[in-house]
Amino acid sequence: MALLSAAVLGLALAAAPTEAVQSTSEHIWSSSVWLLHGETTPIHGRNPSLTPIGAQQMLSQGALFRDRYLDWTENLGVDYDDDDVSAPIVGIGRIAIENSQLDIASSTDSFTFGSALAFLQGLYPPRTQAFAESAGGMEAATLANGTMLNYPLDGYQYPNIKSASLLDQESIWIQGHVGCSQYERSKILSRFDAMAVKAADTNTNFYAELYNQTFHKDFDPDETNFDHAYELYDYAAYEYHHGKSNITSGQLVSLADLAAREQTNKNANLTAYGNTPGDNIRAIAGRSMATKVLNSFDDNISQAGVTSKLSLQFTTQEPFISFFTLSDAIGGPSGDNFLALPNPGAAMVFELYSIGGNDSVYPADEDLWVRFLYRNGTDPAAKLTQYPLFGNGNEMSRITWAEFKASMERFDIDSVPGWCGVCNSVAPFCLEFSESSGGSGDTSSSGSSDGGNAAGAAAQAAAMSPAVAGVIGAAASISLIGLALLGAILMGGIRFHRNADPKQRSSTLGGFRGAEKMASDTDIAYAKSGARHERTGSWELRGGGRAVTVTAAAAGATIQSKRSVRSLRDIDDDDISEMGVAPVKPREF
Ligand SMILES: *[C@@H]1O[C@H](CO)[C@@H](O)[C@H](O)[C@H]1NC(C)=O
Ligand SMILES: *[C@@H]1O[C@H](CO)[C@@H](O)[C@H](O)[C@H]1NC(C)=O
Ligand SMILES: *[C@@H]1O[C@H](CO)[C@@H](O)[C@H](O)[C@H]1NC(C)=O
Ligand SMILES: *[C@@H]1O[C@H](CO)[C@@H](O)[C@H](O)[C@H]1NC(C)=O
Ligand SMILES: *[C@@H]1O[C@H](CO)[C@@H](O)[C@H](O)[C@H]1NC(C)=O
Ligand SMILES: *[C@@H]1O[C@H](CO)[C@@H](O)[C@H](O)[C@H]1NC(C)=O
Ligand SMILES: *[C@@H]1O[C@H](CO)[C@@H](O)[C@H](O)[C@H]1NC(C)=O
Repeated sequence: MALLSAAVLGLALAAAPTEAVQSTSEHIWSSSVWLLHGETTPIHGRNPSLTPIGAQQMLSQGALFRDRYLDWTENLGVDYDDDDVSAPIVGIGRIAIENSQLDIASSTDSFTFGSALAFLQGLYPPRTQAFAESAGGMEAATLANGTMLNYPLDGYQYPNIKSASLLDQESIWIQGHVGCSQYERSKILSRFDAMAVKAADTNTNFYAELYNQTFHKDFDPDETNFDHAYELYDYAAYEYHHGKSNITSGQLVSLADLAAREQTNKNANLTAYGNTPGDNIRAIAGRSMATKVLNSFDDNISQAGVTSKLSLQFTTQEPFISFFTLSDAIGGPSGDNFLALPNPGAAMVFELYSIGGNDSVYPADEDLWVRFLYRNGTDPAAKLTQYPLFGNGNEMSRITWAEFKASMERFDIDSVPGWCGVCNSVAPFCLEFSESSGGSGDTSSSGSSDGGNAAGAAAQAAAMSPAVAGVIGAAASISLIGLALLGAILMGGIRFHRNADPKQRSSTLGGFRGAEKMASDTDIAYAKSGARHERTGSWELRGGGRAVTVTAAAAGATIQSKRSVRSLRDIDDDDISEMGVAPVKPREF
């Protein structure tokens, strides 16, 4: 969006390689798209929410992908760039959403889920008289007397967004770092890495000045340092873009640079390890992401292109940063750019396609190609651009499916038990694998595994271990409490209100003006009292089976509820009316 000043973000794509091109003889069979959420209120100290700007960013990103994949040139009144060449996905529903062709995943955080909704509103905007065959077609819309009924809100299209909590093993594919104890531990220790110590030293004054200037409003002095660079940048960017502080664009650029270095060390330092050397524990989010990409393509190929035509994953910055390093995008022709933070709404895209032939025959494995595209945010100046991966040059920006698969398999996570083992995770679905991988790694290795460090750092690391062990212990007991609660809920009647974010400390909503809404944003404004109400339930009734969310993050665990079991349906509606908000549509008739 033009609203995010391009000057500040310095959208210089000058050195960018080939812009996305598509020749008419290509057929796109499947695409896996990874989207960073749109702008939020600051992630520090309060419950972050998607801002109107963030929602607009995602809507425009969705419209751009509509243009590319659905080959639909209707003017949506949205400011998007129509230079991006269209590359329609074979057989995908172009007008009415066909949920069976899509695989949409988000975490349960309101800002990623909201981002998914806004994106889908741009991808499949409301449309009257659009009825997907797989959803019953015209027949489902026609009454006995011949009257045809539209979906509400001028043909709103209802996407099936699967939001996965920590209780759900699907969550590891979109945010493999969450609930991963070894990652948390390694992240805590990262502040003793030589680079981090040096950066913290060099920038003490810089942060101290900014503390007086703006951070004192919400941060403690001992939080205002390099170890919190991302949160500080995120906060300052919000203040800057909303005119709430006198921070300069130069200061913001420095903060962004520091945040990128901090995040790269925490999420892409391939020297650090957890249980075993070389396990790339800090890049765990990118490792599990690679598995998800391969799975959607494998799924597509084995079904000869009937499902997983388009898979959309909505997540935070960690998978992006990990993947850029794991895939060696940082070593490619535009490498340095991938060491910077992705902009809000950024998209990583993997396309599976064939060249020549016709689209009525699914190609043989050896005729399939893969390319990687990246769009750095949603500014109209940001193009969807093709980049080479795995150390290739520009001339190799497309590679065969076999080579792509082999390259991704060098660092992906082979299975759910694999993730549980690497992470020493106490997530409930890991418990069944725990006899084999054992609790052995939990605490014993914590002090010594970073043995390559300078002696001072090692001593500090050792000093950390009781705290780390405490975190892991706390997480383990929370998990047991979680199981007990699950039992209680299933037996009857305990209700929770969702306590949205483990980082949350106070419920002040700060600059988020929940009551202001735009006419076009009816469904987002629905959670107007500050997005405290879990409104994802209705999408999840089909999935069933998941009842309680246990978030055992290191910082402090909270127990959340997610009403997704059929028998809790009435409770869900009760809660809606308690809040004085009417459901979007009648729930059954
Ligand atoms: C058909 O039935 C619906 C619902 O009962 C009613 O609203 C509509 O007016 C009827 N149409 C005609 C043509 O009678
Ligand atoms: C910040 O403010 C405090 C108290 O007013 C002052 O002592 C300190 O020198 C200031 N720090 C910087 C870097 O300006
Ligand atoms: C910014 O504002 C703060 C307090 O509002 C003030 O102390 C500081 O001097 C200002 N800084 C600049 C660079 O104008
Ligand atoms: C990566 O992590 C290792 C182990 O913690 C540390 O020794 C090293 O300095 C880190 N590298 C960078 C560039 O920070
Ligand atoms: C893969 O995508 C193609 C093209 O959209 C589609 O026809 C095919 O059914 C998909 N296969 C699977 C297994 O999803
Ligand atoms: C994305 O944008 C940021 C900020 O404008 C920039 O520093 C970075 O180089 C960009 N990344 C890529 C891959 O172009
Ligand atoms: C597509 O290719 C297949 C195999 O080459 C051929 O049998 C079929 O007739 C072609 N279909 C069209 C519409 O050209």
